[in-house]
Amino acid sequence: MTDMAIPEAQLVGAVEHDISTDKFPVKGWDHLRFYVGNAKQAAHYYSTAFGMTLVAYRGPEQGYREHAEYVLRSGAATFVFAGGVTADSEATKHYARHGDGVIEVALEVPDVDKNYAYALEQGATGITEPHDLTDENGTVRIAAIATYGETRNVLIDRSKYTGPFLPGFITRKPIVDRSAAIESGQEPKRFFQAIDHVVGNVELGKMLDWVNFYQKVMGFTNIVEFVEDAIATEYSALMSKVVANGTRKVKLPINEPAEGKKKSQIDEYLEFYDGPGVQHMALATNDILASVDAMRANGVEFLEAPDTYYDDPELRARIGTVRVPIEELRKRSILVDRDEDGYMLQIFTKPQQDRPTVFYELIERHGSLSFGKGNFKALFEALEIEQNKRGNL
Ligand SMILES: [Fe+2]
Repeated sequence: MTDMAIPEAQLVGAVEHDISTDKFPVKGWDHLRFYVGNAKQAAHYYSTAFGMTLVAYRGPEQGYREHAEYVLRSGAATFVFAGGVTADSEATKHYARHGDGVIEVALEVPDVDKNYAYALEQGATGITEPHDLTDENGTVRIAAIATYGETRNVLIDRSKYTGPFLPGFITRKPIVDRSAAIESGQEPKRFFQAIDHVVGNVELGKMLDWVNFYQKVMGFTNIVEFVEDAIATEYSALMSKVVANGTRKVKLPINEPAEGKKKSQIDEYLEFYDGPGVQHMALATNDILASVDAMRANGVEFLEAPDTYYDDPELRARIGTVRVPIEELRKRSILVDRDEDGYMLQIFTKPQQDRPTVFYELIERHGSLSFGKGNFKALFEALEIEQNKRGNL
């Protein structure tokens, strides 16, 4: 399969929708910005292990004294890794409290002022008022509102800008040259093509508040609902609801811990992240087998599916026919789920930093708009094995 074979909208389960009718129109994801302990090394890791391409940079060399920031892309997905250059940089303080984590979930919007005004009218807290950023490549209009924890939703209109990322950033060449691996077929051109969803973990009793927040402030709708017992294991449980914009390009599941016999995985996150924040990001791929093989070969660790998963007759019946033999999925610990619209393949990485907090999912959708509800039990059991190893269960 090539990148061109499947349009981005189909990869992420987007639907036809005219955003001009929305009170809070959203074109799609703009970027995810991370505060990390060492942005230079993060840029290298995401280049080699995640197959991303460094495209832009800003730091002290550009007269920006606070952070060194590396902008990496994979298809439509843009990640920005910012590290503090001084002891009192914002990123340094954020890192000290939370470890590596997501500070900005940025959305591209057609009219920043309109969205910002609407959000504040509906009760959102403004962090940065709409303002212009300009350099020789044009102007970006930008603003930010607060969401769960210290996380921000940034609003960006980049329709009048042609530079590599934002004003002030310079173009940078890729850190590693993957061309030989791509030409020989050893690695896919991209390990993922787009961001599918971004999941937030919030405190017990707070999930509905944040679901209501996105419904009220952004006009998002609740698209999937999990009841507590649907996703409980013997030990721990969580509650989860998903809100999405009209096109369903931007999907935001929100989790909260539920009472279980032992500490929920969400409680572990909240303890080690020291509050609510982004738990995982799902990355859409058109060939999850090739992506997983390349990432494993480059050192990314994935959760192992329980041995029994692929032999469960109920699951086999539910899965039906998928594009590859189940043995190929078993070899790689890739999970399958199905709903009335189709199926999807998914797999989860282990945490990607020292703290047991932020991780990734790879997802290959074939019509299904689900989030893997059918896999939650198997997934939680795998997570709890890891949690137990850390002494946190
Ligand atoms: Fe997910």
